[in-house]
Amino acid sequence: MPDVPGVSTPHRVLPPNDPRQYDDLADEWWRPDGAFAMLHWLARARAALVPPASTPDELLVDLGCGAGLLAPHLAGKGYRHVGVDLTRSALDQAADHGVTAVQGDATAVPLTDACAAVVSAGEVLEHVPDWRRAVAEACRLLQPGGLLVLDTLNDTLLARLVAVELGERLPTVPRGIHDPRLFVDARALVAECARHGVSLEVRGVRPELGGTLAWLLRRMRGGDRPARTEPRMVPTRSAAVLYQGWGRRGG
Ligand SMILES: C[S@@+](CC[C@H](N)C(=O)[O-])C[C@H]1O[C@@H](n2cnc3c(N)ncnc32)[C@H](O)[C@@H]1O
Repeated sequence: MPDVPGVSTPHRVLPPNDPRQYDDLADEWWRPDGAFAMLHWLARARAALVPPASTPDELLVDLGCGAGLLAPHLAGKGYRHVGVDLTRSALDQAADHGVTAVQGDATAVPLTDACAAVVSAGEVLEHVPDWRRAVAEACRLLQPGGLLVLDTLNDTLLARLVAVELGERLPTVPRGIHDPRLFVDARALVAECARHGVSLEVRGVRPELGGTLAWLLRRMRGGDRPARTEPRMVPTRSAAVLYQGWGRRGG
């Protein structure tokens, strides 16, 4: 892909949503106050939707796992955590956190049908040009009765304003990481999951305001010490910006 003016990483200028951004930002993944801070908050909220494994060695497949930020929040739940991602530099870090790392595309996952008790797709669908294929893959991987959990950005004007125009100017989200043309309409997502046998419920989520303002102020003032607590994600009435989804595959 040719470099075109668009997004400045510390190393070069890349088009929006170019996966090479994750290589350039590789040092940011595990910094609690870094460019991927909000992914940590979202990982905690996503993991809260996942019950403990019912049998030993159940598989949780984490599509677009990045550096494995979900891993600490699954500790003690009893899953084998398998992460699939395009980005080698992120997968290496995921492996360091106990994730079985598989390099692959979420639209053609190199894993067998019905292998997973849980499939997670956190903040990935809005990065995949053909999100419907990724959803089909997520559902294919689920065993009957298996659970799909996800979060993504809605295909609305408000999401473009909040997540891109505002969010990417704050230190919680890397600038240019999103291409809003790929955002995922919540109703279309529910319909697509239903087509593949998963009955998905969705709800809006956002970072709680007080904690986030305190976090931003502290972050902007600088200082080396990370926050003692991170902002929590809370449900919202509207799913117009950021939303979670969860549902089980019929059987
Ligand atoms: C915003 S990050 C989210 C990472 C992780 N799920 C989390 O919440 O911390 C998006 C991740 O999706 C990966 N990704 C983007 N497109 C992908 C694709 N088609 N297949 C697999 N991974 C993909 C990127 O490499 C990146 O690691």
